[in-house]
Amino acid sequence: NNPPWPAYRGYHEYSFAHATMGVRLPTILGKAIDDTIRTLNEQWDEDKIVDLLKCIERMADLMTDLTGKAVLRPIVDDGEGDIPLWNKEIAKYFQGKNFINSPWLFAEAYKYRRLHECFSSSKYWKDYDVFFRQKCDTFSRSSEAVFELSTRFVEPWKYAEIHGDLASAQNILEAERLMFLELTQVCLWGNSTDLSLLINLTEEDIKKLQSTGGEHLAATEKNILGNHLPRLWETVKELRTKTGGRIDFVLDNAGFELYCDCVFADYLIQSGLAKTIHFHGKRFAWFVSDVTRKDWDWLLNTMVYGELFKDASEVDRESLRKLGLRWKQYEREGKWVYEQHPFWCSGYTFWDMITEAPDLFLHLSRSDLVFFKGDLNHRKLTYDCAAPASTPFDEAIGPMASAPGAPTICSLRTIKSDVVVGLESNEIAEKLDNEDPGWKISGKYAVVLLSEGRPG
Ligand code: F6P
Ligand code: MG
Repeated sequence: NNPPWPAYRGYHEYSFAHATMGVRLPTILGKAIDDTIRTLNEQWDEDKIVDLLKCIERMADLMTDLTGKAVLRPIVDDGEGDIPLWNKEIAKYFQGKNFINSPWLFAEAYKYRRLHECFSSSKYWKDYDVFFRQKCDTFSRSSEAVFELSTRFVEPWKYAEIHGDLASAQNILEAERLMFLELTQVCLWGNSTDLSLLINLTEEDIKKLQSTGGEHLAATEKNILGNHLPRLWETVKELRTKTGGRIDFVLDNAGFELYCDCVFADYLIQSGLAKTIHFHGKRFAWFVSDVTRKDWDWLLNTMVYGELFKDASEVDRESLRKLGLRWKQYEREGKWVYEQHPFWCSGYTFWDMITEAPDLFLHLSRSDLVFFKGDLNHRKLTYDCAAPASTPFDEAIGPMASAPGAPTICSLRTIKSDVVVGLESNEIAEKLDNEDPGWKISGKYAVVLLSEGRPG
């Protein structure tokens, strides 16, 4: 049940795995320790201080293991429900393996579970998120793009009302199509602001990454190297007539990306294309910027009650507040549902979902369309292995396309790591290898790939 191509590993010097395991992960862990020390310095209660110091010691041990290429040990029983999921995988496949010679995807995920363990084994700090400050801070520095979207989308979608009798069914559908394509791209490029890669972003850098104007989107469409957008629309426009009309988002990053996801999801509800949206987040701090329940609540509440954007005009603030209120109302009405299955924070690729999380697979089977956001989800869909760039997406995602009950899947991913599939030819990739050597990690290129799934 594995693909025929080798998985990337830390010792593959040609791969981004090498720099990640050797340099990026220790840097990220060092910053996590700094954050925890900052929190330590703000404490006054002795029990909590002593407890937090132990967390910092465990993080120091993790740093020694990570940089000293220690053998991957089982996760200690911290009372969390995902222990069997992790330790079974270690026992079955990775005994005696270390951070460098086990598959990159597993080793990197394992590092985040070990980081969680540093806190989950404490008394007072079980849910502490070492990346929370960073996630909030980046959103607060995204004001320009945030207000551009909030002022534009605060009023519900009502093409038909504005155009009265002139709004023929065909015109409405065309307007819906254009809006859908634009918002799919907003949602896609929202993925370029990933904190694990862009550690020291200036406000200018953020602005550049987040410009959402129409012209900009037309220009960026040519950077979508595998582009199933037209097919995606053909699928989505049929959803309205389905009894369920359910769309799922397997989320990636918090803050601005999540905000873009929600703007898109709001349109899907407003236009009637979907009746319910299920959002899937992570149970604990994951790959630096991924969405947790706390990030979800923070975003909606800061939009309604926060004072993040000091220089904003009253009109801007009001648009954000209104949008936030609408989204919270969707949640109350059950139109938006936030979920967090433990499988999303495991070391398994999605090729193993049917065997390791059958309940989740069945749950996704009932969806009409599942969006997988971002680079990591794409790596997990494709087994993070060296498949040729021309490999069809259906083939690259194995059982997630071919198993009975496989849902319709769309991967919206800006390219930030080695695996690239779904291109029309291998030459496209070879040309970029020559002309733009960093193209696989820059986030400048993307794929929008669709798999129709298979009826159960
Ligand atoms: O460490 C590499 C990585 O796993 C890549 O997938 C990407 O660079 C980043 O971390 C996560 O990106 P994203 O937030 O888009 O999944
Ligand atoms: Mg992420």
